[in-house]
Amino acid sequence: MGPILDLQRPSVTFILLSLALASIYWLRLLFRRPLFPKGSPVLVDEYPVVGAWSFFSRRIDFWRHGTAQSKTGRFSFYVGKLPVVSVSGVEGRKTFFESKELSFSEGYAVLFGNAPRFSVKNEDGVETSGVEGGFDTYFNRRITRLMKKGRFVRNLHLLVNDTRQALSQLAKAESNILDPFDDIYRIVYRLTVRTVACNDIADNPDLLSRSLKAFETIDASTTPSTVIFPWLPTPASVKRMVAGARLYRMVQNIVEARKSAGVRGEDALQFLVDQGDSIAQIISFVIGSLYAGVLNTGINAAWILVYLSTDSHWMDVVRQEVDAAIDKHRTNSAQSKGDILTSFALGDWETEFPNIDLCLRESIRFHLTGTAFRRNVSGKDMILGKEIIPKDAYLVYAVDDIHFDPEIYTDPQTWDPSRYLPHRAEDKKVQNGYLGWGTGRHPCHGMRFAKLETFIIIAFFVATFDFQLVDEQGYPKMAWPETDRNEHAAHKPRTPVRLKYTLKD
Ligand code: HEM
Repeated sequence: MGPILDLQRPSVTFILLSLALASIYWLRLLFRRPLFPKGSPVLVDEYPVVGAWSFFSRRIDFWRHGTAQSKTGRFSFYVGKLPVVSVSGVEGRKTFFESKELSFSEGYAVLFGNAPRFSVKNEDGVETSGVEGGFDTYFNRRITRLMKKGRFVRNLHLLVNDTRQALSQLAKAESNILDPFDDIYRIVYRLTVRTVACNDIADNPDLLSRSLKAFETIDASTTPSTVIFPWLPTPASVKRMVAGARLYRMVQNIVEARKSAGVRGEDALQFLVDQGDSIAQIISFVIGSLYAGVLNTGINAAWILVYLSTDSHWMDVVRQEVDAAIDKHRTNSAQSKGDILTSFALGDWETEFPNIDLCLRESIRFHLTGTAFRRNVSGKDMILGKEIIPKDAYLVYAVDDIHFDPEIYTDPQTWDPSRYLPHRAEDKKVQNGYLGWGTGRHPCHGMRFAKLETFIIIAFFVATFDFQLVDEQGYPKMAWPETDRNEHAAHKPRTPVRLKYTLKD
């Protein structure tokens, strides 16, 4: 009988056994979850390997279910092998939004399955954002410069012209029924591209619609598997990279065309090129800014028109506000309403529309769905209440915790902008009581621009058209579709929404 293990000529069984053991070892390494230390919030576990699947499939239901199982309002769960803690209440909000030990970008980059970032390598071949402090420092520095008053003043006429042009096309259209989540959303997209990318795309309908398609593909490509198994080349992640590559080539062509023609642009792209940014940095910045800017602003601007179309009180309030602003700036009786609005300076746009601002505030309360994300980067366990938030764990905060708390917002399911008027001030009842524009360490960098474009679009629309909510055949409808609170972020409604409009005299 020969030796059982002939090391010179290993048997097939031996090879298979070794492979199996190696695979088990590798799989254990790949899926090994760090244990929540004793004293962490109660664990709400669902499945091995994937963790809490309903965090993806029914996010707010999962949050309600987890919160109900906890005495403190905090609970722990896994996303794949990532440990996550959900926090809530006054104390949870304060820590979540104000603690220096929590990283905004690390939370979003992993759990939100953010836009693709093209890596930049330094001379040693190491991936880098190209800026000390990482991608966030780079991103925040650039967006802050682009959101300065001077740039808005310089671009105001372009934003106004884009809006007028889109509305005059609607006025000429054969059908007088529009989809606000397409037609109004596209205006927002164009204004945002002008502000954070370049005029070459904003001025070219073909580039505009191709870039929007790529952007929407990227937006739609975040699936549970891209978050849980980011290393797995799923169809969604491949689509995302292809769409990212298309945008990359589009921007690269524009930069090269400018260089070879020796021309400069008057836009964000030129500013980024002048800073010495690479195409990879530029495209990561542009996608990140579109992400931050287009979805929320586009969806909320569309919703404001939908809410107004079925709320005669607020429709009158906004109409009167727009008419009053137009009358105030009228210099002669021959001027059209559109011409008068076009003559508004930045300061006029920013001060004349407080009621549209209230409508926006209330729409955001409804459409900021899902959770915000952070990560404990303090290098140690943190204590919240008497519980532990483990080192390196991720944190989530469900915005509905405050925005739909009936103790804070009376009858929270009702769209009611008057809840923010000084005599009610429901948003100021408690600290961090309104999160629509962020709070604490991460207030929204784009609020001024988002408000400006919303005021321009709504004021022009209300001045130009009468409108009402209808079904797809054009018959009047009185109720808008409920917002699915399980959405992960501002989202177009899944059922069709239409507005019928007629030109005002
Ligand atoms: C209606 C429109 C918008 C809404 C409702 C909105 C809402 C928010 C909220 C809630 C946050 C904080 C998120 C958190 O704490 O986890 C935030 C942050 C941010 N927003 Fe907006 N936003 C809007 C438009 C924009 C626009 C147009 C831009 C830029 C073009 C922008 C850029 C940013 C950036 C860069 C941050 C991160 C700030 C940081 O890292 O500290 N946002 N926004």
